[in-house]
Amino acid sequence: MSAVILGIESSCDDTSAAVIADGVILSNRIAGQEVHRKYGGVVPELASRAHQQNIVPVVDLAIREAGIAAGDISAVGFTRGPGLMGSLLVGASFSKGLSLSLGIPLIEVNHLQAHVLVHYIREPGNTARVPSFPFICLLVSGGHTQLIIVRDHLSMEIAGQTIDDAAGEAFDKCAKLMGLPYPGGPWIDKHAKEGNPAAYAFARPSAGGFDYSFSGLKTSFLYFIRDREKEDPGFIEKNLSDLCASLQHTIVEILMHNLDRLVTHTGIGTLALAGGVAANSGLREAFAGYGAGKGFDVFIPKPAYTTDNAAMIAITAYYRYLRKEYSAQDIAPDARFGFSS
Ligand code: KG4
Ligand code: ZN
Repeated sequence: MSAVILGIESSCDDTSAAVIADGVILSNRIAGQEVHRKYGGVVPELASRAHQQNIVPVVDLAIREAGIAAGDISAVGFTRGPGLMGSLLVGASFSKGLSLSLGIPLIEVNHLQAHVLVHYIREPGNTARVPSFPFICLLVSGGHTQLIIVRDHLSMEIAGQTIDDAAGEAFDKCAKLMGLPYPGGPWIDKHAKEGNPAAYAFARPSAGGFDYSFSGLKTSFLYFIRDREKEDPGFIEKNLSDLCASLQHTIVEILMHNLDRLVTHTGIGTLALAGGVAANSGLREAFAGYGAGKGFDVFIPKPAYTTDNAAMIAITAYYRYLRKEYSAQDIAPDARFGFSS
């Protein structure tokens, strides 16, 4: 083993640590935070406290599960941003301390770039294909919705993004309106399986260029169910599956529409999906179907690599490590950290 990278992720409400050796995953541990569920969303103050409690046990577990000793680690990579400041501070401070005590490089990682690079994580003994450059990545999460042109592991350009809500937020906010638990995306996915995607039509707002807009959809959905509930109390409950299927169908169509336009515009025929919403079965099916129809090379991450995890931080840090792109000890987390090519 020449490059053993410990990755630390703490940007939102998951504390995660992973070990990657020469690009091969050895462990990926995640501690979620149930505490937010009863508030219907992530409470930043509670998130940073929980990270503080979870980080040492999670890192310890990831190192042990990888079958390595702390002294084997070549570098520590951490999420510098974007994310919640209080949460980022926990991972950054821990990583700085570890890098100092072990005398190893500290490597900052952009969380969004990391979501894209999950496609390069290799499983032990598995030589699955990886996307060739350039490719287009549709990154869809609770905080972001972006179309990214990926030219190299560390060279990416945002071609389009949401101007208001993220796709995950659209799922979660509409789910909340229907009284589903938080986060609502997986619940909508579950109920959609039993429903008719053509039962109802909702607004499909458009934004300029390759950008997205989802706030109009949420408003149209709100007015629709409010009016129907007035006429027929119990409408939501009776038609839950059809509502979920139609809403999911609309969100997926909005996402795929701009992707198709960008594909036509750039002529790029290698496509990848990433982020928490990439776990959505309707989107996975539409993405795979689109690629098959066009004869494109399509990459869809396994569900464990869609939501926030430290394996993606470790693989990104690995590519930075190969280029000796290290960070100084005075590096500060950046809640709005961006990336450019
Ligand atoms: O990437 P992620 O774990 O965290 C962020 O960085 O935001 O994404 C979380 C988002 C949430 O909005 C959640 O509802 C959504 O991903 N999500 C889903 C599904 N699984 C997770 N949305 C729709 N269908 C799913 N199966
Ligand atoms: Zn994320």
